[in-house]
Amino acid sequence: MAEPASTPPQGAHEFLLRRTPDQILGPFYPVRRTPDRTGDLTQGGRAQGLVLHISGTITRLDGTPVEGAEIQVWQANRHGRYRHDGDVSAEPLDPHFEGFGELVTGADGRYAFTTIKPVAYRTSPTTWRPAHIHFRVTTQLEQFVTQMYFEGDPYNETDPFLRSARRPEALIVALQPPAPGQAPESRRIEFNIALATG
Ligand SMILES: [Fe+2]
Repeated sequence: MAEPASTPPQGAHEFLLRRTPDQILGPFYPVRRTPDRTGDLTQGGRAQGLVLHISGTITRLDGTPVEGAEIQVWQANRHGRYRHDGDVSAEPLDPHFEGFGELVTGADGRYAFTTIKPVAYRTSPTTWRPAHIHFRVTTQLEQFVTQMYFEGDPYNETDPFLRSARRPEALIVALQPPAPGQAPESRRIEFNIALATG
């Protein structure tokens, strides 16, 4: 493996970042399934829903990138249903969406994947979880689990898991216009994660 850069890369912070808040693993971690490793969770047919291009950088608190971090992502489909035996929701599965991917960061700490926007799902007759995507990051020194949420979701305000985070705003992302070359109806998201040790 390459030696880590001895000096912080351009754009690194001169002050310490604040560590990204962690969140629970949740009941729908895909224990018995094989993740997609292509970086495109919408392929294999065309998954239903708004296509999202999600990317970001995994860093240490000094802003230096973490190379070779393994990232697992899992999520509900565009009906709010997980492909998981434990999800007893009446919502339909999408035959073209597995909702489970695995990525590895490059030397610049970057990751990127394409997926669809999940929607909120019911957790009891009166409670809903806001739309979110689960992230599990494994490095040589650390295992970190969190959830990424979407700006404007009406359930963000009442979700006990998001509200339990020390800085909920660090877990909420905004949809941005697509980059050149991406489908005009798709959206782009940047979600950076600062690890305590890296
Ligand atoms: Fe979830």
